[in-house]
Amino acid sequence: MDLTVYLSGEYLSLEDAYVHVEDRGFNFADSLYEVARIYNGVPFTLDRHIARMEQGARTIHLDYGYSPDDFAGIVDNLLAENDLSEAFVYIQVSRGRAPRAHPFPEESHPTVFVMVKPHEPMSWEERLAGKTAILHPDQRYEFCDAKTTALLPNVLACQKARQEGAFEAILMRGRWVTEGSNTNAYLVRDGAVFTYPLVNILPGITRSVLKEICSEANIPFVQKPFTSQQLKEADESFVTGSVSEIIPIVQVDSEKIADGETGPLTRQLIQLYAERVEEECGLYTPQQR
Ligand SMILES: Cc1ncc(COP(=O)(O)O)c(C=O)c1O
Repeated sequence: MDLTVYLSGEYLSLEDAYVHVEDRGFNFADSLYEVARIYNGVPFTLDRHIARMEQGARTIHLDYGYSPDDFAGIVDNLLAENDLSEAFVYIQVSRGRAPRAHPFPEESHPTVFVMVKPHEPMSWEERLAGKTAILHPDQRYEFCDAKTTALLPNVLACQKARQEGAFEAILMRGRWVTEGSNTNAYLVRDGAVFTYPLVNILPGITRSVLKEICSEANIPFVQKPFTSQQLKEADESFVTGSVSEIIPIVQVDSEKIADGETGPLTRQLIQLYAERVEEECGLYTPQQR
């Protein structure tokens, strides 16, 4: 059955409804959705679903630019167009297409998708017979060690950092510093590098290279949690990522780390990292010094 759906201003066949691969919904799960039932051609509690989506949009600072009436009109059009009465409506809004970067794009073109699909209701007999269930831990936000695209919390943290004029948001779990919004985080104390152990954080590839570099240079690489206070009182700090490489962090919140300059051990690691790249790739760009 060919279904007509709504996608960002257009009514088109489901078969032709594509979202770009750089859509932030695809790249970052930077999006919201709602599902509501339609009985006898009449949307049930659609206004409450839209109100919840508006609430979510305020939480994630997403302005998708559609009113509840806009959505009600689209749903009515889709019901008529597809000649449906027993159905559900799926709505998804995302921060739209933009070159992939954690902070919000300067110019936002939200993606708005609405689909009304036929629904086969469960019979009275099946419902009243009941079903079974299993118990399972609530793990919605416990997969930091997998590089999933469920990055919305990281996007919001990074955006807040940028709004406050900072480069990175260094994340806390309880009193412990875990990693950055898109980097791993470190402090230097008494000539040793400290970083959070590989327990529910992203096992950064750059982190693994850094560990090898430290080992070759006889720099202790200590995988032990540290607090935000210890970070602020550190001799040096830096973050790492494949694209960022090693970035010195010279200030956290309003507090300078030591004298607020890139420290000698961080400089040494940046140099050693460049040499490692040169060994493997022939050239480290940009050429420095
Ligand atoms: C949350 C988080 N931590 C750390 C990193 C650094 O990982 P890598 O060094 O593999 O780029 C990333 C990179 O995307 C990340 O998203």
